[in-house]
Amino acid sequence: MTTSIDSLQDALAAHGQEHVLRYWEELTDDERAALAAQIEEIDLAQMERLIDIWVKNEPKPEHFDAITPVPVVPPVDPSRADAKEALAAGEDALRAGRIGLVVVAGGQGTRLGYDGPKGAYPIGALTERTLFAYHADKIHGLQRRYGVTLPWFVMVSDTNRAETEAYFQQHAFFGLDPADLKFFQQKMVPCVDANGKYMLDSKGVLAMNPNGHGGSLLALIDEGIVAECRSRGIDTLSYFQVDNWAVKVADPYFLGYHLLGQSEFSSKVHRKREARESVGVHCMCDGVPHVIEYSELDIYPKLLETDADGKPVHFAGNPAIHVLDIGFVERVYNEFERFPWHRAHKKIPYIDNNGQRVEPDAPNGYKFETFIFDALQLTERAPVALEILAPGEYTPIKQMDGPNSVTAARASMAAYWSEWLEAAGMTIERDGDGNPVHLVEISPRFALDKAEFVEKTQGVSWPAPGPIFVDGVGTIFQGR
Ligand code: UD1
Repeated sequence: MTTSIDSLQDALAAHGQEHVLRYWEELTDDERAALAAQIEEIDLAQMERLIDIWVKNEPKPEHFDAITPVPVVPPVDPSRADAKEALAAGEDALRAGRIGLVVVAGGQGTRLGYDGPKGAYPIGALTERTLFAYHADKIHGLQRRYGVTLPWFVMVSDTNRAETEAYFQQHAFFGLDPADLKFFQQKMVPCVDANGKYMLDSKGVLAMNPNGHGGSLLALIDEGIVAECRSRGIDTLSYFQVDNWAVKVADPYFLGYHLLGQSEFSSKVHRKREARESVGVHCMCDGVPHVIEYSELDIYPKLLETDADGKPVHFAGNPAIHVLDIGFVERVYNEFERFPWHRAHKKIPYIDNNGQRVEPDAPNGYKFETFIFDALQLTERAPVALEILAPGEYTPIKQMDGPNSVTAARASMAAYWSEWLEAAGMTIERDGDGNPVHLVEISPRFALDKAEFVEKTQGVSWPAPGPIFVDGVGTIFQGR
């Protein structure tokens, strides 16, 4: 690439950002080319708008006259007529090859303190199998059950693309056909300081962050995924976050409720245990569906109201599991100017005016992000919200210990799978609180649910209670 300093300078100067070329003379040709590529990716006019709104002015939070609970489909009861219809519709769509899978895995995952793509975190306490491996096992299980290919689209960002692709290659794509597994990349946006100036991470590198999982709505089109879906006859996407070990990928009930409800964008919701739980809340704001982030609960204290039993009135927590209509993705893409952005005040290391790198000990700049759930505000048809029970569906991994942690996820899955083992005839040892004493892992490649597990393990003579792993072909491993 020929890099003209003059054209970069002019473009940046038009938006008051030419200072980022301050060290140009000190850079090698490669460094110059890399910096120019970063700058060319930026939508300078849009950044100027964001800086005006979010940095130069202190925006007032949006005001709503009325915040009311969102209408929710109660948890699936397979004996209910609506659930039977939903299952049939979802399974038909799966068998017809209308479903594609999207996982968002472009985030930086810093809270876990894990040095690598979050999807490569070894969540299996017995096997050290990773989040990606588990999600791939579910896809194998679904492909076998429905006799269909389920293409998997993995959203990565500049921060982790190379590592994520290398990780999949090292593991031979977990036995999936590489033609059906595509990585697509979200865009990055520059971090800005308190004066709205772009920041340098080093003399030739801008400090940037991924544009949030809402960026998937742009990247799905820009990176050709929607076009590929259209050519494969896929019209519906099952969307999930990489950090939810338990997520039911392409859950046929959820797909069915979405399709029968003619929804454009559907969500699972789970009952919040307490009002301040760190999850977004689905609610209706002046009649429009929204998710209010947990960081904004104090702005909208109505969302913290509890009933006579002390339970949250606005209980519909956001596990970030969605179904998207492809036509809706196309429409939102064309209307992305209307898409809301969010600002986070963060500690951002930077190069100061003397060329020294500074590691701030207090927030010193802003990151801008978009959130996929804001697409709810752009829906034209009523979205479906299906309540789920968290165990066996929602065990997000945000930290090592405490709520929503690695430890909690392992305990939750051991409890969930122990019920399968019990149903299949194995004796499970439990503590005084009824929690299983031993760790359990069952590969979803072998069984996607309890009924399938029980059916496939008929006649098995189970070992004495202890840690147990059942692999993708049903082989039983005991001990750690
Ligand atoms: C998120 C939701 C919250 C929800 C919770 C459920 C947001 C802002 N909030 O919180 O409403 O209740 O999950 O677990 O998302 N990601 C990208 N690219 C990005 C940013 C994130 O791919 O630019 C991916 C991450 O890899 C991860 C997921 O999005 O898979 C969630 O991001 P994270 O920052 O962990 O969101 P939470 O604060 O946990």
